[in-house]
Parts: sequence; structure tokens; C-alpha cells
Amino acid sequence: MTQGKSRVFSGIQPSGELHIGNYLGAIKNWVALTETYDCVYCIVDLHAVTIPYEPSELQRRIHDLAIGVLASGLDPERCTLFVQSAVPEHAELQWLLNTVTPLGELSRMTQFKDKSGRVDTINAGLLNYPVLQAADILLYLADRVPVGEDQAQHLELTREIARRWNGRFGEYFPEPQALIGGGKRILGLDGASKMSKSQNNVIPLLADEEELWSVIRTAVTDPARVRRDDPGNPDVCNVFSLHGFFTSDEERAEIDGLCRTAGIGCVDCKKRLAANMAAELAPIQERAAELRAHPERVREILHEGARRARAIASVTLGEVYERMGLERHES
Ligand code: TRP
Repeated sequence: MTQGKSRVFSGIQPSGELHIGNYLGAIKNWVALTETYDCVYCIVDLHAVTIPYEPSELQRRIHDLAIGVLASGLDPERCTLFVQSAVPEHAELQWLLNTVTPLGELSRMTQFKDKSGRVDTINAGLLNYPVLQAADILLYLADRVPVGEDQAQHLELTREIARRWNGRFGEYFPEPQALIGGGKRILGLDGASKMSKSQNNVIPLLADEEELWSVIRTAVTDPARVRRDDPGNPDVCNVFSLHGFFTSDEERAEIDGLCRTAGIGCVDCKKRLAANMAAELAPIQERAAELRAHPERVREILHEGARRARAIASVTLGEVYERMGLERHES
């Protein structure tokens, strides 16, 4: 089934409730890519422990994330979905790749600088985060990685690590290419920064219409439109741009016209968004409820995914050990 197809690898952190930024920006694209590529998708729990987190919540977050991804339409028969820590080769390869990664490159990573500015003590895991990411990708000899802008630098470093390792131990790892176009940047309720849990500006994916409405009503619209009878400008309104994902062309054209002539107020425009969003998300929520009622099904999918992933990963790691002059001992 997978022969001749290029391989895609991508990872997602189990760091919070799924929101429509994840859905529109990443997961919808994950689903679409399974049509064309041999896709390996990973819930990266080992990455998630590099920042402060609650250990007693981690398993639930992983499980919920798997539910969200599956409910969004990812078919586990048509890709490999697994949890990073279930395949110990990730951590093992990371250690080996550390030995060809220049410290200077790691300390120059924008995300490292951002994150380390927000914690009291900078742990080495935060610094080595991109090496684990490189191990994720290289372990599957993946040649395509769907990335948003914020991960482009990490992917560039992955390529450099592959080059350096190949230079030292012989040509083996392909240099993975970015698959651009998928990683759309979805703005949050503030209409200014990327939708993200840390910005506290998210619209949850698994919310009913009432809940959707209660968050969407707080969304920032065209700042120049102060009163109900001021004409608005949909071109600069984040609520209008969200309509772009959930509302028919016809209805959008109507709203566009009404907004410019103050024929519709922001409240009604938001109500329509909440209703259209609820309609698109309803089947996802139904599937999520179904999976939530059958946790063993989710565990089975992840278990099978890990088994398939491990079959690939252990071959790669065997080759790496051999080329590095190490011996792999039977466990
Ligand atoms: N660092 C990525 C993020 O925060 C997640 C990730 C981990 C990843 N390993 C990966 C993404 C490998 C792509 C490929 O979004």
C-alpha cells in the first residue's frame, strides 16, 4: 500500500484541549495528506514534558488528543498514528544525533529563546527539543514534513543534522523538505496573535453551539467599528475571516455587503458564525463522543500504530548503530 509513496512525518503536542486553530491549521491537512502520502503521525509526549506540566493529566491529554484527531476524520487504516514514548527509538536516536548537533545552532533557535525567556530555570530538554524533533523525522526517513512558519527553523536544523551525520557516517538520511501550504496561521479571538492555548484566545474544537457562542461573542472584530450603525470592513475583521472556513460563499457575500453598510451588527455576524461552525463540527463531536465511550478502541489504534512505527524505527536505528560502530544488544 505504501510502496513508492513519499513519506510524510508530523508531530503534535498533547499540551491542551484541541482548538479550531489546530483543526484548520494542522489536522485537516493531516487528513488530506493521507490521500497522497505514506503518513506517519505522532503525538509527541516526550516534547511536551520540556515545559511545566501536570503529570497526572498527561495520559488524559494524550487520549483526548488522539480522540480529537481521529474524530476529525483521520483514518488509522490509511496512516500510522502513535504516541512517541511508545517507540523508544526516538529517545535513543536523539542521543546519537546530539553528538553531531552544534550547540551554537541550538541556542540560536527562536523557539528556544522565546521559551527560555518564560521559565525560571532553563532545562537542557528545552535546548535539545529540536534534536528530538530531528530524530522523530529521520527515524522514518521521512522526506516531507508539513510545517507552519513557526517550525521552519526546526526543520532547517533537521536538514543540517542529517547532512552532518551523513558527512561523518556515510550517506543515509534524506534531507526532509517542508510541505508548505498546509500550515495555515489561524488568529485567535483577539484577532492579533496565532490561536494558541498559551495566548488564551482559543475556540475549542469539541464545543456545542452554546459554548461556541459564549467564546465567539468575545472575539475582536473590526476595531474601527465602534457603534452598531458604523459601517464595518470585513477585510480587516477576524470574525469575517473565520467565516471563510465555515460559511458558504453565498452567505459570506451577503454578510460582506451587509457589514459594509451597517446592515448587520457584529453580534448577529458572530451568531451566524457560531451556528455554521456548530454545523460543521457536529459530526466531529459525534465521532468524538463515540470514541470517548470506547477508550479501548483508541488505545488499540495507538497500540497498532506504535507497532507499525516501531517496525520502521528499529530498522533505521539498527543501521545507525552499525554505521556509528555501536553494537545493538538484544533486550
Ligand atoms: N515541535 C512541533 C510543534 O510544536 C511538534 C513536533 C515534534 C513535530 N516533532 C515533530 C512537527 C516532527 C513536525 C515533525 O508543533
